[in-house]
Amino acid sequence: MVTEIFSGDRAAEAGLIIQRGGLVVFPTETVYGLGADVFNEDACRRIFEAKGRPQDNPLIAHIYERSQLDSLVERFPPGAEILMDSFWPGPLTLVLPKKRSVNAIVTANLNTLGVRMPRHTEAFAFLKAAGTPVAAPSANQSGKPSPTNFAMAREAMEGRVEAILDGGACETGLESTVIAWAETKTGSGWTILRPGAVTREDLFSVLDTLFLQEVENLDEKLLSQSPGTHHPHYRPLARVRLFESAENFARGTNLTQVENIKSLAILSIDEINTEKTTNLPSNFTHRHYTSWIELARHLYSDFYELDALGISEILVQTPTRRGGIEEALKNRLLKASSDCWV
Ligand code: TXA
Ligand code: MG
Repeated sequence: MVTEIFSGDRAAEAGLIIQRGGLVVFPTETVYGLGADVFNEDACRRIFEAKGRPQDNPLIAHIYERSQLDSLVERFPPGAEILMDSFWPGPLTLVLPKKRSVNAIVTANLNTLGVRMPRHTEAFAFLKAAGTPVAAPSANQSGKPSPTNFAMAREAMEGRVEAILDGGACETGLESTVIAWAETKTGSGWTILRPGAVTREDLFSVLDTLFLQEVENLDEKLLSQSPGTHHPHYRPLARVRLFESAENFARGTNLTQVENIKSLAILSIDEINTEKTTNLPSNFTHRHYTSWIELARHLYSDFYELDALGISEILVQTPTRRGGIEEALKNRLLKASSDCWV
């Protein structure tokens, strides 16, 4: 299939391709999405094929205005309006009871649907022109890091979709926060299924504490319905290992001597003194960021670039704080590394 490439100023043309039943890769403030008309069953089925995605992992519906919820959502749990008022448009996905008209293929047979309104100029123009909610997972091949710039989106999806809309680099660089209203062992409330740039503190600032529940308190059945929890995720080709701080790095690398490693990259926000590290390979890169936000923004594109450079081992500084963007970053890094520390 020939994939048409649209520059950002042609977002509306890309939207029309959705109307005609095509697949379009489009930018958002978090990561690039792989979109189809949410009400077109065949087109939605093709999303799973293009991604190599297991069919038990549901898609998020993307909208540009709240009236589009009428065709998607059956009812709103307590606090949903406040959440939408506070964080839309933006990187927050709400899992809500779905209307029967939303096809089972989209929601992987669940009776809920994830919905989000992106905060992104080209995404807005694209969704408006599409004129229908757009079902979209991240535009990566299943298991790989999500595309956070045009080059990554193109490599993942060219030849598999009708069009790609070029929106440059994504601002957040990590996927949206996903929350669901759920019954937990400690009561009903909104539960963070996937942390993201709308943080725990942000949610606390608008919701009564009674309305927030911890994901650990979900019962097993509900937790298993929170997909993405049981599939491998966010993995580059290189092996990823984690460390907490410069001291921790020094101790860890001295112990293992980073021996037998032919190529190595370090991503950190601490200054790392590698002079004392013995046996550093000649193919060595250190990318130093000024904040966790910056590291989060570049994480997936770094994975992509370092893979292209043939780097076999990536060591990433990992935050420990529960809250902030740190919580989201740590969540992705634990998965990318299979919880493997230096
Ligand atoms: O930032 C994002 O959310 C990006 C952009 C494109 O919007 N999309 C994205 O989609 O990351 P995806 O499919 O890669 O991740 C959606 C996550 C998955 O972990 C999925 O299992 C979960 O949300 N999810 C979707 N619908 C759900 C539902 N009804 N119940 C529970 N979890 C759901
Ligand atoms: Mg994804």
